[in-house]
Amino acid sequence: MNRHPQLSSPAPGRPGDSCVMVIFGATGNLTQLKLLPALYNLARAKLLSPKFALIGTSFEPQDEGLFRERMVKAVKNYSDQELDQGEFDQETLDWIAERIYFIAGDVRDPEFYAALKARCAEVRKIHEIEDNHFYYLATLPSLFGEIIRQLGEAGMASEEGGHWRRVIIEKPFGYDLASAQELNTDIKKVLRERQIYRIDHYLGKETVQNILVMRFANSIFEPVWNRRYIDHVQITAAESVGVGQRGPYYEDAGAVRDMVPHHLFQLLSLTTMEPPVSFGADAVRDEQAKVLRAVQIPSPEDVLSKMARGQYGEGKVAGEAVPGYRQEAHVAPESGTETFVAMKLMIDNWRWADVPFYLRTGKRMSARSTEIVIQFRRAPLILFRNTAIEQLTTNRLVIHIQPKEGISLQFGAKVPGPVMKLGAVKMDFDYSDYFGSTPDTGYERLLLDCMIGDATLFQRADMVEAGWSIIQPALDVWKALPPRSFPNYAAGSWGPQEADELLERDGRQWINLT
Ligand SMILES: NC(=O)c1ccc[n+]([C@@H]2O[C@H](COP(=O)([O-])OP(=O)(O)OC[C@H]3O[C@@H](n4cnc5c(N)ncnc54)[C@H](OP(=O)(O)O)[C@@H]3O)[C@@H](O)[C@H]2O)c1
Repeated sequence: MNRHPQLSSPAPGRPGDSCVMVIFGATGNLTQLKLLPALYNLARAKLLSPKFALIGTSFEPQDEGLFRERMVKAVKNYSDQELDQGEFDQETLDWIAERIYFIAGDVRDPEFYAALKARCAEVRKIHEIEDNHFYYLATLPSLFGEIIRQLGEAGMASEEGGHWRRVIIEKPFGYDLASAQELNTDIKKVLRERQIYRIDHYLGKETVQNILVMRFANSIFEPVWNRRYIDHVQITAAESVGVGQRGPYYEDAGAVRDMVPHHLFQLLSLTTMEPPVSFGADAVRDEQAKVLRAVQIPSPEDVLSKMARGQYGEGKVAGEAVPGYRQEAHVAPESGTETFVAMKLMIDNWRWADVPFYLRTGKRMSARSTEIVIQFRRAPLILFRNTAIEQLTTNRLVIHIQPKEGISLQFGAKVPGPVMKLGAVKMDFDYSDYFGSTPDTGYERLLLDCMIGDATLFQRADMVEAGWSIIQPALDVWKALPPRSFPNYAAGSWGPQEADELLERDGRQWINLT
């Protein structure tokens, strides 16, 4: 029996193809904090092809040797797990260092691409690398469209002779619905959808990938995964840190753009999608896109009644006094940027009709925790007529995404003793207890997937646009009605009163697990 080719994914566990990886923005934060440590981890696991090289690019010129040293330092500084245990693998580091090259230039300048093209050819020759290229856009989002256009004009994006050209595009993909659509239109003039890898590093996390496995490789969850048994779902992505040095970016973006269309909606779609016909990239993404399109687009009235925004004031996090958002570096003293958002969404399909989905994300919250809580309905009460309602437990499945990675299930049990008293007990599965922990930045799997041509964990154009469509009304209404009450939550709390009221109106409350 043959499968449709577009529905099956490449064999897992094989090393990446022979290729040259070009990082645009290689002197930036992301490259040093995540990409280089991830490449090191892949090399250690023998998942990079022996015929691989990296060319870093940036605006400011610098010596290639110094750049190489900087990258090696980044690996050492940010792959800290092994360093702590004194197990740093010098051989792997030397192997990577031998394959690092650098070229500076302005990505808006066509001459830069001629030089880059020539450099790619030289590097390919030195390491006998196939003519495959993988471009990572780790630079300012305003440059994404321009870089792809220039790659196209320089003849660096077309796939010929069985060789591939792939582009990883960092988030945020667009600033709103119109700009995301425009960017999609522009880049599709140069690239086919299968060459485009819109990255969301949340999808590199084991637990996120495990949502699919948990739901579809087990037979016990799916029968109850619907409106008949589930009362509501909560998705929380809380950070205890503030905006730090990212003020210039964050002032313009805010919590909605920074977190919702990418991270939160990925979690939402994986939790709510229908079973795909295979784990192939298009099969999975078809279902994700479908469920995102089934989310009711909020009306302006819904924005006012079913969404809440907030900004942190000063407060205490882990016992330490911290400044408010408006006192952070590069933040306007009267800033109206939201650092918190909560919303209630409904999905218009047979599986989820009438089940509310409550989503929230914020900075400077009480704890760092990303979790999906599936709250099941209460059991029929007849047997426990004499038990106070607040003592009756409900089943709750929690998917912990960070910092802890695991799954826990809460259910009711009888407290031992002569009287019928109920208590809530928990079964916990912790990833690290079962499988140990391996050094992981979250980017390893995604870089490897790009090198083997598996786009399952990357966002497709229709998914991105469906996500922006859902939050566009909030962007419009909140732009027209600047907030009057900011700051409206203390750093170190669980967000503003309005977010609590959102659930209280439905007779529910946020579940703060940590
Ligand atoms: N930082 C993170 O942890 C993180 C996490 C998730 C996603 N991201 C995303 O990753 C991307 C990069 O973020 P980042 O924090 O690494 O940025 P960054 O630290 O500001 O670095 C920007 C890089 O782009 C280069 N650059 C800027 N203008 C250029 C031009 N005209 N021509 C050539 N190069 C130019 C800079 O080179 P010079 O240094 O020479 O100016 C620098 O290497 C963004 O889309 C961001 O949203 C970042």
